[in-house]
Amino acid sequence: MPAEAVAGLPPLLGEEAARVAAKVDALFTTILALPGDRRDRLYEAMGHAAIGGGKRMRPLLTVAAARLFAIDEERALRVGTAIEAIHVYSLIHDDLPCMDDDDLRRGKATVHKAFDECTAVLAGDSLHALAFDILADEATHERPSVRTELVRALARASGPQGMAGGQMMDLVAEGEQLDLGAITRLQQLKTGALIEYCVEAACIMARLPADKRTPYHGYARNVGLAFQIADDLIDHGGDEEKAGKRVGKDAAAGKATFVSLLGEERARAQADMLVDQAIEHLSGHGKEADLLRAIARYAVERDH
Ligand code: IPE
Ligand code: IPE
Ligand code: MG
Ligand code: MG
Ligand code: MG
Repeated sequence: MPAEAVAGLPPLLGEEAARVAAKVDALFTTILALPGDRRDRLYEAMGHAAIGGGKRMRPLLTVAAARLFAIDEERALRVGTAIEAIHVYSLIHDDLPCMDDDDLRRGKATVHKAFDECTAVLAGDSLHALAFDILADEATHERPSVRTELVRALARASGPQGMAGGQMMDLVAEGEQLDLGAITRLQQLKTGALIEYCVEAACIMARLPADKRTPYHGYARNVGLAFQIADDLIDHGGDEEKAGKRVGKDAAAGKATFVSLLGEERARAQADMLVDQAIEHLSGHGKEADLLRAIARYAVERDH
């Protein structure tokens, strides 16, 4: 029986999102079963953050991109869950008092509030490691060369050349006025790199030659930037209950965002333009790219 569609989403997206979210939850639930010893607290904290929450946009994007190349969906879901593990780790650490100091995430207490800081650091570390464990497993792909490429590209997307590098830029820019180019670079690393990896992973699994990947890179780059602008707009004028996290924090911390530079209206126009461009990159595809098109629109129309 199909999972119930997510309320408030267009039918295609709502059904697919619910199905993918259920599968990601199931995989995390299996992997994070309590060992029944003194590590239980660590597994509980990982489960608190990883199971039963979030939009699961990255696994959905991975499944949607994999569909273009008729890749086995179970494999795409494993890769999507690995990406979600990195994402959840980044959220746990992003919420720590030494970073954004937040107490609410996905409608629940943040990990350092529900547990404590040491446990939150270790839960993040462990989810980071788990991501590479999932990718390196034979169940993800039968070819060792494909698995190696998946691992290396995720390392780059999440490390200093990607997410962690962007987080550093975000923190050192507090209170500074960056120009459009600098904010674009910051956000491309902080959020864009991992979103780009979702699409790149599908290209890797399909063993698509590098010169055939250009439109997919273009799509993913535009969606990644638009997605973070939408996040900044939610922080600026969104609803805390819907968002499941505190809002109004970026301005208070003096964060450099598209909204702080351009204002709400122009930031929204910029996000809409990026989505149009993203969809344009898929012009070589028919119906098989409809889910990717729907995700691009949702990336900016969302309120949470
Ligand atoms: C929030 O990501 C942080 C960013 C990188 C923008 P999401 O908006 O995907 O958060 P969840 O996964 O739905 O909680
Ligand atoms: C965080 O960006 C991006 C990450 C890499 C975790 P934000 O700090 O804007 O994310 P939220 O608003 O707390 O979800
Ligand atoms: Mg942050
Ligand atoms: Mg934050
Ligand atoms: Mg934010």
